[in-house]
Amino acid sequence: MSASASVRVELGTRGYDILIGPCLYEHIGDHVAAVLKTRRLFVVTDQRVAAAQWPRLEPALKAAGIAAPCIVLPPGEATKGLEHLGRLLDAVLDHRPERGDMLLALGGGVVGDITGLAASLLLRGVGYIQAPTTLLAQVDSAVGGKTAINTRHGKNLIGAFYQPRLVLADLDSLASLPQRELLAGYAEMVKYGLIDDPALFAWLEANGKALVAGDLAARQHAVTLSCAAKARIVAADEREDGVRALLNLGHTFGHALEAAIGYDDRLLHGEAVAIGLVLAFELSVRLGLCPAADAARLRRHLAVVGLPTAVPRGPWTTDRLVELMHQDKKVSAGRVTFVLARGIGRAFVARDVDLAAVRALLDQTAAA
Ligand code: GLY
Repeated sequence: MSASASVRVELGTRGYDILIGPCLYEHIGDHVAAVLKTRRLFVVTDQRVAAAQWPRLEPALKAAGIAAPCIVLPPGEATKGLEHLGRLLDAVLDHRPERGDMLLALGGGVVGDITGLAASLLLRGVGYIQAPTTLLAQVDSAVGGKTAINTRHGKNLIGAFYQPRLVLADLDSLASLPQRELLAGYAEMVKYGLIDDPALFAWLEANGKALVAGDLAARQHAVTLSCAAKARIVAADEREDGVRALLNLGHTFGHALEAAIGYDDRLLHGEAVAIGLVLAFELSVRLGLCPAADAARLRRHLAVVGLPTAVPRGPWTTDRLVELMHQDKKVSAGRVTFVLARGIGRAFVARDVDLAAVRALLDQTAAA
C-alpha cells in the first residue's frame, strides 16, 4: 500500500490539507505538527467510534506528547442539537482551553458537524481537525467547512461556514463500517462523477465493486478524486453563492424522501441521494436535456454496487414530497432549486423547473 495521498483545499490563509491513507492515526503526531501550536487536542467522538478508534489514537497522541481529553457523545442524529452542543462547549471549557488548543472531530457527519460548530464558538473560534470515520464524511461532510446542528424547525438550520485546519481521512477506520453505510458514502462519490468528472464515473464503473469489497488502493484513489472534486468546488464558492449548489445533485429529491420517512435508518442519507440522483437524471431526460442512455448507465452502476435506484414504498404521496421540497432551506422566492444534467459529468443548477414534470415523474415512479 502506498503512502498517504494529499489534496489541498485552496482557500488562501484558510486553506488546508486533506490526507488520505491507511495508518494516519498511528502517526497523528507528525500529521498535526504543522497546525497544532500547543500540546493539547480535545477529541470529540461518539460511543461507537470511541470503542473502535480511540485505542488506535490514544497511544499515538501520548507518544507525541499531546494531552487529549476525550469527550464522548451519544451516537446518532439526535446528538446534533442545542442541548448536546451546550454540553460539549461546557465539557471543553471545564479544561480551561487556550486559543491555540484545537478540537479533533473523530467520527461521522454528526460528530463532525457539532464539533466544527463548537470550535467556531469557543473563545470566538479555535481551530479544529476533522478525522472522519465514515466514507460519507470522508468524501463530503468533513470537507468544506459546513458545520451545523438541527432544531425543531429543521435540519442544519443553526450553523456556520467554518473551515477545519486539517482533514485526516484514515482508510483503516472504514474497516469496521457496516456495508450499508459504506455504500451510502459511495453514492456521494458517484455524485462527483456525475457533476463534472465523467472520468471518475467511468473509473467507478470499472473499479466500484473492488472498492466496495475492501480494495485499499481503490478506496484511496476514489476518496482522493472525490475530495479533489469537492475541494475544487469549495475553493470556487465557499459560501454556496453559486457553483457549490451543484453538490446538491440528487439532494432535492433525496431530502424530501428522507423527511417523508422521518430521518430514520429505513433510508440512510446516501441511499436517499442514490435514489435522488436517479430521479434528477430521469427528470433531465424527460425535459429533453439528457440522453436516456446516460440515465440508464447511472441506474445500472448504482444497482451493480448494491445501491437502491427506486423510490421505496411508503405512505407518502406526490403532493407530500413536493410540499417537503418547498420546505428545503435552498428554496428561494418560493422556487425549488434542482440540479439537473445534460449528461454524465454535465450537471447544472436549474431554478425554473416546471413542477408539473416533477409531479408526473413522482406519480409514475411511485406507481412503478
Ligand atoms: N454537502 C454539501 C456541501 O458541502 O456543500
